[in-house]
Amino acid sequence: MTDQEIKKGLAGVVVDTTAVSKVVQETNSLTYRGYPVQELAANCTFEEVAYLIWNSELPNAEQLAEFNARERGQREVSQALIDIVLGLPKDTHPMHVVQTAVAYLGAVDPEAEEEGEEANRRKAERLYAQLPTIVAIDHRRRHGLDPVAPSSELSYAENFFKMVFDEVPDAAVVRCFDVSMILYAEHSFNASTFTGRVITSTTSDMYSAVAGAVGALKGALHGGANEAVMAMLEEVESADNVSTWIDEALANKEKIMGFGHRVYKNGDSRVPTMRKAFEDMVSAKGADDLLALYNAFEEDFVGRKGIYPNLDYPSGPAYHLMGFDTPQFTPIFVMSRITGWSAHIMEQQASNALIRPLSAYSGSEQREVPTDR
Ligand code: ACO
Repeated sequence: MTDQEIKKGLAGVVVDTTAVSKVVQETNSLTYRGYPVQELAANCTFEEVAYLIWNSELPNAEQLAEFNARERGQREVSQALIDIVLGLPKDTHPMHVVQTAVAYLGAVDPEAEEEGEEANRRKAERLYAQLPTIVAIDHRRRHGLDPVAPSSELSYAENFFKMVFDEVPDAAVVRCFDVSMILYAEHSFNASTFTGRVITSTTSDMYSAVAGAVGALKGALHGGANEAVMAMLEEVESADNVSTWIDEALANKEKIMGFGHRVYKNGDSRVPTMRKAFEDMVSAKGADDLLALYNAFEEDFVGRKGIYPNLDYPSGPAYHLMGFDTPQFTPIFVMSRITGWSAHIMEQQASNALIRPLSAYSGSEQREVPTDR
């Protein structure tokens, strides 16, 4: 096999079909089940988009009410799971907490091994309903606070704020959060979704696939970038330091977090919508310095390299202004992407082929095992 045939990082390789979302590289656009993501963010709630991702159509009022009632009825997690989360070391990475919780939910679910769309849909809905509860308990324990029980009176986003901060913020803040959840929900064969599909292709179960996807999302080249962006902006500190900071980072051959994308080379279609949500948060919180830093950084880096921001660039600082701790940003991404992951897991299972690529061997030639060692 020659070097030319090796597709490092699977770049440009089409491995299967999907009906969940479409990424159009040339126009930097993204649709979920045919709807442009910006239009969904402008006109829908996250709950409607979750329904769309699983059912291929947007819900009518009755379907939405039924769907939401099911989610609201499943938000509570068992005391055994609460105890497991509370028992983990305080410095455990929050993505490891999420991964542990997903593995636990699989271990105790009598349906865990059951195949087929109906059972998988029930499992996906349970994860969608319970992940926010787990993330909120983890947030509060790090602050020495007891869990706040979920409320079936509140929307998905409102309930999450309530469980984290014991209060629901202004509607404008809740809306910014909801927009971020819509934008993060699905993105074709990204690294974490592909991980979930690889695991599913071996006929393993949904919880195993989701736990693997959580692991893939954690890395800074993927979902972990939203945390890395905030850490970076905090290190740069002010718009005046941008140029020197970027000089040094590039001299050290560092990747600049929140910029660049494997698929979009001329801008990410989700960014303008999330940037607007971030600006709304800046207005709500009076954080003009952060906006000045954000703008100065973007202008300088794009001007130098022609590499554009991805969704993590505006979402990181937006979550910061909402009051979330930086290490919780990627678990919040999980709460949204569980919709896309599980849709892909079901799609993979419905038309499965074991995913098993080839490699070009670069080690020693075949040789005999020495007997005189
Ligand atoms: N900072 C500095 N240089 C960059 C960046 C960046 N963020 N992104 C790409 N480049 C440069 C590379 O150094 C490379 O330069 P070279 O050709 O001179 O070696 C060139 O652009 C191509 O970059 P690759 O890394 O080969 O492109 P790839 O498609 O593999 O990478 C990736 C995409 C991993 C997202 C990359 O842009 C990156 O590391 N970005 C920072 C991390 C990040 O923001 N990840 C979030 C992705 S979006 C999401 O998961 C929601």
